[in-house]
Amino acid sequence: MKTQVLLVTGAALALCAAQAHAEDVSAGKEMYTESCVHCHGASGRGMGSFPSLTGQDADYITKRLEQYRAGDRVGANTGLMAPHAADLSDEDIANLAAYISTDFQ
Ligand code: HEC
Repeated sequence: MKTQVLLVTGAALALCAAQAHAEDVSAGKEMYTESCVHCHGASGRGMGSFPSLTGQDADYITKRLEQYRAGDRVGANTGLMAPHAADLSDEDIANLAAYISTDFQ
């Protein structure tokens, strides 16, 4: 009986921990495929004036997307990128950053 209670408590804690890190890589991938792939490419390598997204960590991607969303000028081609970040939620950004930093190395 005591073991059962401990197991249930353990599962509940694991669930909470999972929710605290709510980034969803597959949701990020879905969104990337819909909204970002045309410019940054299927493997994130970019082309021409569209920068490569490979080898970046999630913090860097998050910060950049927040800057574009806020309308900050980042580089010479911010005008091409900013409209695609304007409507992202914090959750979208977390999911995209998780996907980009996991899959594009
Ligand atoms: C119309 C083409 C286009 C689309 C679509 C697009 N981007 Fe971009 N992206 C760019 C360009 C151009 C830049 C460089 C902008 C600058 O000079 O500041 C950029 C920059 C970035 C950067 C910063 C890269 C760095 O090295 O600092 C990130 C991160 C990024 N894009 C992610 C995304 C994500 C995620 C999406 C989908 C939601 C997306 N982009 C959609 C063209 C695009």
